Amino acid sequence: MQQITITTPDDWHLHFRDGEMLGETVPATARCFSRAIVMPNLVPPIVNAKLAMEYKNRILNARNEGSRFEPLMTLYLTNQTSQQDIIDAKQASVVAAKLYPAGATTNSAEAVSGIEALYPVFEEMQKQGMLLLVHGEVTENHVDIFDREKVFIDQYMAKIVKDFPALKVVFEHITTRDAAEFVLSSSHKVAATITPQHLLLNRNDLLVGGIRPHNYCLPVLKRSTHQNALRKAVASGSKQFFLGTDSAPHAKMAKENACGCAGCYSAWSALELYTQVFDELDALDKLEGFASFHGADFYGLPRNTSKLTLVKQQWTVPETVTLPNGEAIVPFFAGQAVNWKLA
Ligand code: NCD
Ligand code: ZN
Repeated sequence: MQQITITTPDDWHLHFRDGEMLGETVPATARCFSRAIVMPNLVPPIVNAKLAMEYKNRILNARNEGSRFEPLMTLYLTNQTSQQDIIDAKQASVVAAKLYPAGATTNSAEAVSGIEALYPVFEEMQKQGMLLLVHGEVTENHVDIFDREKVFIDQYMAKIVKDFPALKVVFEHITTRDAAEFVLSSSHKVAATITPQHLLLNRNDLLVGGIRPHNYCLPVLKRSTHQNALRKAVASGSKQFFLGTDSAPHAKMAKENACGCAGCYSAWSALELYTQVFDELDALDKLEGFASFHGADFYGLPRNTSKLTLVKQQWTVPETVTLPNGEAIVPFFAGQAVNWKLA
């Protein structure tokens, strides 16, 4: 196949950041996605309806003239989150709340320790029909970083899903065969997002021939058996898997560092890279479901009605993207060839 036309997709997990960065990140995503689930891990985090609405307005104002891109807002769960916070957020059309185990990733210092303390909040979310989005990794020092997702499933995820059978749960950016199997063995109230980097790469791409800080994200890339399990999951066409880029920009200096931070800024190439993966898997007929239908259906939102076309044509991802303030970001797949291009 040399070209493919699909319903305009949505990105069900990304990080726009704030301030001047929005002038870069919002148009980059809006070039091909109609809506996006916006992560709340700002400093300070988005912990209530008021902060979410103010952030939403800053995102709307960063759109290009005439753009109808729609940000879907989320709340950051902390040990202080109350049931009233959930009620207020739902009323303000916040669609989901994000659970970060404390210390799991960028700006998660304020997140939750002792997940059971949040059970009244989960109860309220279940009642209000608000989705629970989960960064599924334990953070205890003694647990090997490559095992943290699997241990989280065994210690927390299985229990949350069992104790709240009517709560819709998205297992975000899954990276292991264990997580894919867990989702498939759960009810249709449980789904997962999968990033382009976890479909394209494995931990060799992080560590062989030198450390590659721009491939470092959390959860960390796993061995190829896990990568292949994720590829199989998306190629199956299961409605329980959908597109979430986890596009997460960091300044070049912050990644090319003795203690480089986690996150891949994929907004400029993610859709094209997903298309490349589905093409490699001989599963282009499953791309539209993954990118444009399964997420909207799971969230209970209307599917988009517009279309876009991708053509099989090689292009190279730029080496850097420059922010309005002159700061450089190295995009995911920088300097590498991509086989599909937005028409
Ligand atoms: C994200 C970020 O930079 O905000 N980083 C990442 O590696 N994925 C946070 C996150 O999604 O965990
Ligand atoms: Zn993320």
